[in-house]
Amino acid sequence: MRTTNRIKATRAGARPIRILFVCLGNICRSPTAEGVFARHVREAGLEESIVVDSAGIGDYHIGEPPDPRARAAAAQRGYDLSALRARQVDKKDFADFDYVLAMDQENLRALGRWCPPEHSHKVKLFTEFCSTGPCPVPDPYVGGARGFELVLDLVEDAAQGLLRHVRRQLDV
Ligand code: 4NP
Repeated sequence: MRTTNRIKATRAGARPIRILFVCLGNICRSPTAEGVFARHVREAGLEESIVVDSAGIGDYHIGEPPDPRARAAAAQRGYDLSALRARQVDKKDFADFDYVLAMDQENLRALGRWCPPEHSHKVKLFTEFCSTGPCPVPDPYVGGARGFELVLDLVEDAAQGLLRHVRRQLDV
């Protein structure tokens, strides 16, 4: 309780750190990353200091909820993705967000093509924050349930590293 109060006092009035997770369709990997990281942020009492969102490179699933397989796998670990809706990355995201975190190299290359040069330092692989170092979060869309478990394993690991990194930035 005291820690939470101190965090809020430290960050009072400061602009939150804004993090955007990006995959291809915004219905499997990046909404999973958004839901997992948002819970880490809530549990740390940092909702007022960190803003989380997700988007897709493609426009195929705009307005759709996360894939039922992604929702089911996440729910098994206590994450509720049901309120999320897919959207496409917008050019203004590069100005609006402090971190634009791609799930794989293909996403990273597409973001690199769209990103204005002055914001290119914001675009990274999410798994740069993994304990085992950067690797792709494999696309689970065509495949079985095991793919969604692997997504969650990688995302939970990277989310812990990202939270540690952001906490150092916030000095909390
Ligand atoms: P995501 O998975 O990029 O993790 O959301 C995919 C979802 C849909 C498609 C590809 C990947 N698709 O081709 O429709």
